[in-house]
Amino acid sequence: MIQSSPIANFSTMNLSEKTDIDKSLEMIIQGSNMNQKEMASSMQIQIQDYQESLIEIQSIFKQFKVDITSIQFQSCPARKNKQMIDLQLYFKDGVQEQKIQKMIQQVQKICQQVKLLKLPEVPWFPQQLKDLNEIGKSVIQTESDSQRVELLYFKDQQYQKRRKQIAQAAYDYKINESRSLPIIQYTKKDNYVWNYCFNRLSKLYKKFACEEFNCAIDQFKKEFQNFDEKIPQFNEVSMYLTEQTGWRLKPVAGMITPREFLNGLAFKVFHCTQHIRHHSVPLYSYEPDLIHELLGHVPMFATKDFSDFSQQIGLASLGVNDTELEKLAAIYFYTIEFGMCREKGQSKAYGAGIMGSVHELEYCVSDKPQILPFNPFVICKDHMSYPLNSIQPVYFEIDSFSDVKKQVSDYCNQIEKPFNAIYNAKQERIIIDREVKMCK
Ligand SMILES: [Fe+2]
Repeated sequence: MIQSSPIANFSTMNLSEKTDIDKSLEMIIQGSNMNQKEMASSMQIQIQDYQESLIEIQSIFKQFKVDITSIQFQSCPARKNKQMIDLQLYFKDGVQEQKIQKMIQQVQKICQQVKLLKLPEVPWFPQQLKDLNEIGKSVIQTESDSQRVELLYFKDQQYQKRRKQIAQAAYDYKINESRSLPIIQYTKKDNYVWNYCFNRLSKLYKKFACEEFNCAIDQFKKEFQNFDEKIPQFNEVSMYLTEQTGWRLKPVAGMITPREFLNGLAFKVFHCTQHIRHHSVPLYSYEPDLIHELLGHVPMFATKDFSDFSQQIGLASLGVNDTELEKLAAIYFYTIEFGMCREKGQSKAYGAGIMGSVHELEYCVSDKPQILPFNPFVICKDHMSYPLNSIQPVYFEIDSFSDVKKQVSDYCNQIEKPFNAIYNAKQERIIIDREVKMCK
């Protein structure tokens, strides 16, 4: 039986240039030396008469008791005979090889060309909103325990207790069950740190941050009462972002893996921490905290081009191999975390890693760092190693956010991946253009 396909039709997705399946996965039936243990899962066929041939093929599958799970039209730019139609038939994995071979012999009587394909295996990625609950189940420790105990704030029992409560609230949060984020009761000391940092940083933003960032943060000040004095609730910030650009926040207890973090961006979900640094060190945090998230990251997610290219990086990260993921993480690093832009002949900052640091805001526009024109291909070729816990020796500067969006898009489109993915905002799910096997 032909079921409604969970995957998209190539023609409607306009992705014709990306439809060639990884050649290594193709096994041409004629002369195939397919291992007996290998199970087929899709078949590529070429037919002349769509309706008649397809009915016959369906009946062959029925005769062999093999369920077709979906059918896709495939474009074929190099095809000489344009009357021919290329189709890909998907069926449940695990059908015996012997049975398949017999079935193919029948199909070959109707079709010009038959290829048996195996489902490509890719690393696990979230496809539905509820899958995001799998993200952030554990966090990365950023300093060794021995280093941690030396830090003053790790001796503050009260602070530690609150940190654990905030972390637990993040672990308990289920994105598909509630749009309402955990409400945190911030203390007077927390608000003092927020106010102190905001006052110090906002003066520097006027001088060293780009116009888009300053406009976005001015909007936040209008939207949230006493924004400079009181930490806004993440729930309200998230609702505001959703209204602006469709983004939302999801709490995490600490740093998550680059793959998890980038995958979240595909859903327009920004994973962030809800705690604030200790009051003894208001200008320093060894890990992301709400100063970094709310002042550094969030304002830019309320701007369209920035939010678009962030999502492009997220979509490109779904199911890519580790090497490609590392490259995308580098592009993310040099844009969303440490991006600079050219504005009226001057270098300005927009990356969150810069926005949360008094020192780096002044340093990045000085003559000390090297500033290179943004180019994702150059980043992936020559700048794959960068410091994570100190100021940056190199920054990449964009001409405009529409330009970085185009460049990131061009880069993402050339990544070799066995499928293409789009985000359906209405259904809050990822739609892919061919079936894949995911492995964790
Ligand atoms: Fe960050």
